[in-house]
Amino acid sequence: MTQRLTIRRPDDWHLHLRDGAMLRAVLPETARHFGRAIIMPNLVPPVVTAADARAYRDRILQALPEAADFTPLMTLYLTEETDPADVAAAHASGLIHAVKLYPAGATTNSASGVRDFDKVRAVLEKMAEIGLTLCVHGEVTDPEIDIFDREAVFIDRVLDPIRRQTPELRVVLEHVTTRDGIAYIGETEKNLAGTITTHHLVINRNHILVGGIRPHYYCLPVAKRESHRLALRAAATSGDPRYFLGTDSAPHLDPLKESACGCAGCFTATNTMSVLAEVFEQDGALDRLEAFTSLHGARYYGLPASDATITLTRGDPVPYPARIDTADGPVTVFDPGFPLHWQVGA
Ligand code: DOR
Ligand code: ZN
Repeated sequence: MTQRLTIRRPDDWHLHLRDGAMLRAVLPETARHFGRAIIMPNLVPPVVTAADARAYRDRILQALPEAADFTPLMTLYLTEETDPADVAAAHASGLIHAVKLYPAGATTNSASGVRDFDKVRAVLEKMAEIGLTLCVHGEVTDPEIDIFDREAVFIDRVLDPIRRQTPELRVVLEHVTTRDGIAYIGETEKNLAGTITTHHLVINRNHILVGGIRPHYYCLPVAKRESHRLALRAAATSGDPRYFLGTDSAPHLDPLKESACGCAGCFTATNTMSVLAEVFEQDGALDRLEAFTSLHGARYYGLPASDATITLTRGDPVPYPARIDTADGPVTVFDPGFPLHWQVGA
């Protein structure tokens, strides 16, 4: 059995770093193993303009540990007021690598998101023209729609119409959680890819709800039934270049998750590479881990793969902390529920 595995330095194509004390605590967890990450713009207030993104990038760079080899890839939060010219200028200057579409009300800090998709047509057309990627939180917010169906309905009602109207728009369907999402990506020839999170490869909805409610497994889109998880595993380990890692590592302070109305988000930055190595090993696909974590995403975004490498080593189960500390309080680290034999380095 392989005991050491050297792969290109991975990238995270969907990451929440927050700001302030949380940023300072979680950034080193990602920068330790990852070379780049697409940084989500759902701060309060959101990162809407090029000026906001530049200021946020500076705060991230200031919070980076010395000697870190990490580049934040910035995004803008799409609103109905977003100016196509501001987006185009931010892209042309190399500041931003994507624009994020949150349907209004779909998830954490999405109140400024889009209600009427016709109002963002001009921005989407400009993005298609300049080759800028749209990252999509793919869930409808219609209260009539069951939460477990929101991704599939979004694809039919919103995503497919947008892509038919603007076929040249490059889209990433983020944190895919259903076999419907995988099927939709699978039947598409160009300009569509999907990110898959670490936690959705591991948990299904039973993990959240059986034997007591487990708030640290609650995220959005919510984990679905087992057959969907298996479809995600098959896609992630398939070697198909349309799928790549976007952890959606989304830290919240423990009291805000362990609450009568807990926040959505799983914090996986600390142990993601160990969990993924275990998952790919379980599926006999360790030789495809590098493609999923380090090659496919860069290719879709038109960036070179990293020249740096990391080495994973297999040995006795690796102890990870149950939580990390921030100056504002603790954040629980995702517990995959099985021992982790792989660690980066050592
Ligand atoms: O679980 C989630 N947490 N899903 C999201 O879409 C947002 C994220 C967050 O920002 O906490
Ligand atoms: Zn997210």
